[in-house]
Amino acid sequence: MKSIVTSMIVAAGLMVAGSAMAADMPAVAKKNNCTACHAIDKKVVGPAWKAVADKYKGDAAAWDKVAAKVKKGGSGAWGSMPMPANPKVSDADMAEIIGFIKGL
Ligand code: HEC
Repeated sequence: MKSIVTSMIVAAGLMVAGSAMAADMPAVAKKNNCTACHAIDKKVVGPAWKAVADKYKGDAAAWDKVAAKVKKGGSGAWGSMPMPANPKVSDADMAEIIGFIKGL
């Protein structure tokens, strides 16, 4: 009995740790302030990045356009709310962020 209780507690702990990890934005997204408007699995001001990943899955050409759009800003893909330009994001940071979103 004791071992069952222990393993249930361990399992619950793992579930909490797992969901916290899944919802955590990478440091590079925090540094560039993307987290002010985006989360991984829920809409904030902008679309959930998981939804972005699903939308462009398998469309290699789309990702270049998405990266350019994040830099320049734009609207229309997800609604009328525009994303302001993010010109200060370095190419290296952008590649890392896009890579992260693609992998969701
Ligand atoms: C002030 C809020 C805001 C900030 C800050 C912001 N976004 Fe957005 N983002 C939006 C909105 C709103 C949209 C939806 C635009 C649309 O409908 O076309 C969006 C859309 C996107 C998309 C999908 C684009 C498409 O064409 O489908 C990506 C990817 C994205 N943002 C990444 C980022 C990254 C990376 C950063 C940080 C460098 C960032 N966003 C910062 C509000 C924001």
